[in-house]
Amino acid sequence: MTQIVYLNGKFLPIEQAYVPVLDRGFIFGDGVYELIPVYSRHPFRLREHLQRLQNSLDSIQLDNPKSVDEWSQLINEMVRQADFEDQSVYLHITRGVSRRDHPFPKNVAPTLFMMSNPLTTPPVTQVENGVAAISAIDNRWDRCDIKAISLLPNVLLRQLAVDAGANETVLFRDGILTEGTASNIFAVENGIILAPVKDHHLLPGITYDLVLELAKHHGIPISIGQFDESRIRQADELWLTSSTREVLAITTLDNRAIGQGQPGPLFRTMYGLYQDYKNKVMRNG
Ligand code: PDD
Repeated sequence: MTQIVYLNGKFLPIEQAYVPVLDRGFIFGDGVYELIPVYSRHPFRLREHLQRLQNSLDSIQLDNPKSVDEWSQLINEMVRQADFEDQSVYLHITRGVSRRDHPFPKNVAPTLFMMSNPLTTPPVTQVENGVAAISAIDNRWDRCDIKAISLLPNVLLRQLAVDAGANETVLFRDGILTEGTASNIFAVENGIILAPVKDHHLLPGITYDLVLELAKHHGIPISIGQFDESRIRQADELWLTSSTREVLAITTLDNRAIGQGQPGPLFRTMYGLYQDYKNKVMRNG
């Protein structure tokens, strides 16, 4: 069956969805996106995702083409049209089509694109054994809080991991942990979760918030701050989180074991809490 996507007001087969070559998304990477996980056809934390979208749009001075209610309706319609229960809805807005020139064009309609794919969560082996990561200097710009479609630095940094046979690249800016190329990173030290402060150097993950909420709710201590590289390398545990990868243990960093080189006890607790929350709350809207 062909995939149905949404483009500028229409649901249509993906083969018929075309964007003009002068779209500023294509020419400049001038746009923002969101990725919303959907469990049993219930979009997870839709309001929070739409608020993050609004923040991204405000940061690039692009008017939001839809109200929260209009987005909700559209996303629910996209979810309804897809023929799988668990989905990842990808939503993408660019500054529209215009002659190639850097300044914002006037009176140009934004381009709106949306698609839904099956939500694939990490395989059991990754959950059981953890994953390998490498580290790199975070050489991205300093507005990583914007969910911008211009992801070339993230792509290049992620490929470093792939080339090294690893799953993610953990980024350090001026020696301070920021995040992964497509995930947030947490460490554990003496039973305390270390969470990098949400500033302009990392994306405020919706999963990041959920992990900290679950920790608070279950009395697991948290320390939010700036953590330097040596502290991260000596941590007892290291985790990555994202909407699609949920919570995963990083068991080696640059081929050196983190803690015992196995998913740690607090990871197992958090993973359990996350799955429990998913089945009891997310699947019920
Ligand atoms: N990315 N940091 C970066 C750079 C990311 O790209 C993502 C997610 C996250 C985690 O955010 P959340 O918990 O809201 O998924 C952090 C998505 C999954 C992507 O680009 O595919």
